[in-house]
Formats: sequence, C-alpha cells, structure tokens
Amino acid sequence: MLILGATEVHQVLDDAEAEVVEAVRRAYLLHERGRTALPHSVFLRFPDDPRNRIIGLPAYLGEDDPVAGIKWIASFPGNTAHGLERASAAMILNSMATGQPQALLEGSVISARRTAASAALAAATLGSSVPETGVSLIGCGVIGFEILTYLRAVLPELAEVTVFDLDSARAEAFAARCRARWPGLRTGVAPDSGEALRAHRLVCLATTAAAPHLTTDACRPGTLVLHVSLRDLTPGSILGAVNVVDDADHVCREETSLHLAERLVGHRDFIATSLGAVLDAGRPHHRAEDRVTVFSPFGLGILDLTLAGLVRRRAESLALGTRVPDFLPAPAGAAVG
Ligand SMILES: NC(=O)c1ccc[n+]([C@@H]2O[C@H](COP(=O)([O-])OP(=O)(O)OC[C@H]3O[C@@H](n4cnc5c(N)ncnc54)[C@H](O)[C@@H]3O)[C@@H](O)[C@H]2O)c1
Repeated sequence: MLILGATEVHQVLDDAEAEVVEAVRRAYLLHERGRTALPHSVFLRFPDDPRNRIIGLPAYLGEDDPVAGIKWIASFPGNTAHGLERASAAMILNSMATGQPQALLEGSVISARRTAASAALAAATLGSSVPETGVSLIGCGVIGFEILTYLRAVLPELAEVTVFDLDSARAEAFAARCRARWPGLRTGVAPDSGEALRAHRLVCLATTAAAPHLTTDACRPGTLVLHVSLRDLTPGSILGAVNVVDDADHVCREETSLHLAERLVGHRDFIATSLGAVLDAGRPHHRAEDRVTVFSPFGLGILDLTLAGLVRRRAESLALGTRVPDFLPAPAGAAVG
C-alpha cells in the first residue's frame, strides 16, 4: 500500500494546471464514449442533521492505464467556524489485475483541483465571441479560490474579479488573498449578489447554500454561470437558461436546482447537452449571446480517479509517499519461513 498525504499530493499537482485540465478533458471524453463505469454517488446523511454529509464516489475509467477506486468525502460546513476546511477526503485506488487496494491518497486537494479544472474547462469550451475579461465569484471559500486559479490558467485575458460572500469578512479576506497572489488582477468586493451577477458575463457560484436563493435576472444576456454549488439557482432560472451538465442522470438528484426543475416540469428536456458531448464534437462552441447559459457539474468520480491515478504515477516515479508492504494480510497459502 502506498500512502500519499496532502504534502505529496500538492507536490505533484501544484502549478500543474494545464496537465490537470487535460486529464479532466480526457475523462469527460472517455465518459462520453462509454469507457467509464460510474454508479451514483452514495450520500451518507445523519438523523436530525441536514447540514453534514459524507459522500462516496466509486468510479472506473478505462484507458491504457485504467483506474478504479473511490473518493470518500465529508462536508461539514460548520468546520469553517473552527478554522478547519469544510471538506475532507480520502481516496482508495484498486488494482485492476487483482482488485486489491494499492494506494490511499489525501482526497480534498484532488477534489478541489478537479472541480476547478472542470469549471475552467467549461468556461474555455462554452466560449463567447466577446473575450472573457472578468469573472464574478459568489462564495469565497476553498473551491472559489481554486476555480479562480484555474480560470487564470485557461483564460489569459482575465483581468478582473468581483467577489461576494454572505460573510463579508470572508469576502474581504478572499479579496486580500487574490491581491497578494495576483497583484495584476483587479479585485473588488460587491455589496450584494445582484451587483456581482451584473458585473461580468462569467459568473461562478461556489456557496454552501442548501436551497435556491438566486435568480439569473441580474445577469447580462450571454452570461455563462458556472453553477458549481448546484443548489443556488431557482428552478425558474434553470428552466429559462441553456443548460449544460456533466451527466444528466447524476445531476438530476439530491435536490440540486436541476432536480427541482425536473420535478416541476416532469422531464429533463431543459438540459441542452453535456460538456463531454460538446468536447467530443470537436468544433469550437459559441454559447448563446441572447440567453444565460448555466453549467451544472455534479462532480463525477471519474475526475477524482483520473487525477488520483496521475498523482500515484507521478509520486511513484519521484519515490514520494510512505509504503506499507504488510498492509494486506499474507495469502493463507503463502509459504512460511
Ligand atoms: N460540483 C462539484 O463538483 C463540487 C465539488 C466540490 C465542491 N462543490 C461545492 O462547492 C461549494 C463550495 O465549497 P467550499 O469548499 O469552497 O466551501 P467553503 O465552506 O470553503 O466556502 C463556501 C462559502 O460560501 C459562502 N456562502 C454560503 N452561502 C452563501 C450565499 N447564499 N451567498 C453567498 N455566499 C454564501 C460561505 O460564507 C463560504 O464563505 C460547496 O457547496 C460544495 O458542495 C461542488
């Protein structure tokens, strides 16, 4: 068993945005082409506790070097009040030859990077004829910062960010972090979500809202909303938008805004396409300039698995991590002595 903690995962993934986006792009294409196995994520919730959850995301991704395994990720939003991250995670990779668990990885860094890479890939793929010079971020947490990092990697013309958070101290701290990291990026804090939605034609939602609280009414025509937190937009706004998803079967579950919209109208015809289908078409895609486009990624386990496979391969070549050779029991028939 190879154990890779957060330090090793960082060592492999830091400053590797282009490689991570490419791995995520390949995973979407393989999924589109039927080369993955992706059961529904399992949500473990607790009696009388609607806030906290732990999600299991098993997945298989078949290619030259196939990967199979699971991400087990906890979301405890109250953690942030105690100086801890909301999300924490572990991943297990299994051998495709024997099924045996082979690697245990810290999973929250992988999860945040794959989420950010997916959002950035959507922004780059669902392009506009007008260059993307600014982005509004609603929800100033870990995921928002990762997304901004990845957007900067794929949208070189991005020069301005406008942020908003219900917790104004978190918005100010986030803006200060942006100014320190990217002195050339114009960074502002919006007084309310409406102003943030109006500020730019690229909007990212990464809040911890459990139920819809936002419409797209304030968005300019042609806006792309990266609806990463999945439960912010009202069903009416979803029904009025051009909807792009990662996987319709996955995203129309667990009380997401799309799930609520489906329940309201009794069908999913409001979903226009998937990011994988757009990528597989291989043609430049221009989003509608007269409507709002919403990208809602459920967050597929194949993205975690593809990055975990990349981290493991790279860690092995750099001799990183801790090996536990006797993690598994010796086979009962093994010779003794
Ligand atoms: N779709 C995916 O693949 C995927 C993957 C990872 C995380 N997520 C989601 O992304 C979201 C953000 O995760 P995080 O780790 O950054 O959380 P976080 O707790 O670090 O940050 C969330 C921020 O949102 C703010 N917020 C809450 N409600 C708000 C509202 N109504 N308006 C404005 N701000 C609000 C909070 O104050 C907090 O600063 C979570 O909902 C998480 O489930 C989605």
